[in-house]
Amino acid sequence: MGLRDSNRLRSRACGDADGDYSLYRCETPADLEGLNGLLEMKKIHSNSSEACYIAERCAGFVSSCVLTALAGLVEAFADSSSFSSSITSVTRLEGKLAEQKKPEASAVAGKVASGKRLQAAEKSIRKQKKPAQMPSVVQRLFETCKEVFAEGGDGIIPSPEDVNRLRSILDNVGASDVGLTRNMPYFRNSSSAGTPPVTYLHIYECDKFSIGIFCLPPSGVIPLHNHPGMTVFSKLLFGSMHIKSYDWVNVPQNSDELVNSLHHRHPGLRLAKVKTDAIFTAPCEASVLYPEDGGNMHCFTARTSCAVLDVLGPPYSDPDQGRDCAYFIDLPFDTFSGDGKLAPDEDGVYAWLEEREKPDDFLVVGARYSGPGIMER
Ligand SMILES: [Fe+2]
Repeated sequence: MGLRDSNRLRSRACGDADGDYSLYRCETPADLEGLNGLLEMKKIHSNSSEACYIAERCAGFVSSCVLTALAGLVEAFADSSSFSSSITSVTRLEGKLAEQKKPEASAVAGKVASGKRLQAAEKSIRKQKKPAQMPSVVQRLFETCKEVFAEGGDGIIPSPEDVNRLRSILDNVGASDVGLTRNMPYFRNSSSAGTPPVTYLHIYECDKFSIGIFCLPPSGVIPLHNHPGMTVFSKLLFGSMHIKSYDWVNVPQNSDELVNSLHHRHPGLRLAKVKTDAIFTAPCEASVLYPEDGGNMHCFTARTSCAVLDVLGPPYSDPDQGRDCAYFIDLPFDTFSGDGKLAPDEDGVYAWLEEREKPDDFLVVGARYSGPGIMER
């Protein structure tokens, strides 16, 4: 209701309109404004009995929100000596208001009571039925690995969609998700000389895949090694490390004579192409290597304490099953190629890899994984 309507009501209240006093027809918050206008009128005019009459009529019809205003009106009338002649009307109005408020109060009390009952019932239900907990990131990683590597095996690469699915899970794994903190003893370099040991936290392994974490103190090294027939996902959880990786270069029989000659004279040497030679610092995306590319042979050197979550599909196996881990030394390409004319691809960086025994100073210590567990279903 605007000012204009308020004035309309006021004029009606003064009895100079059509005498209908149809204020009761208004049941909106605008009524409130009209009644306030009535109250003002009461203050200005001496025609209080007229105003009281209107208020009395309103009491039987107006909505509950107006009752409050009417109650104020009654109170104001009762306090005013100039309205003593209207006391009968006021009394009647009060009676009607009281009657009208009773069921309202009762309804309100009923609502409050039923609301409390509802709250109690809800509380009881909550107690009985705890909400289903979100699976941990590790559990989701496990479930995804089960699906991605369901048909896995030696040399079998998951589909690009599955690779992306697993990689996106790993991209959201942090150190805290696997119960790791930087101040754990695995990340301290306690040895005064030599390469510090690396700790492996085993999480899960089946014949299709394995999940584990390598913990490296500063200067810790995982020497150059391969992943025969595997697809490997690696996620740096924290810290900084240098990664150098290679893929084999398949030298065709009819290639350069010198290359073939080298293979003949040094059968342990194989030509490899550098895939990665860079420093990675968490947070960074998970990397993926494949049986034939992506850097299947790699070497990790910790620049700070760091942790790498590894997913291998399929995992290493016994030597007789063909997926044993081999170690290599990398020799500069120039070592055997003289002036470098043997480079099969001008854009690439090459090296000669020679298999070696596991380095004596490479020590891996197993420790118990203390992060969220995996539930096999
Ligand atoms: Fe590796």
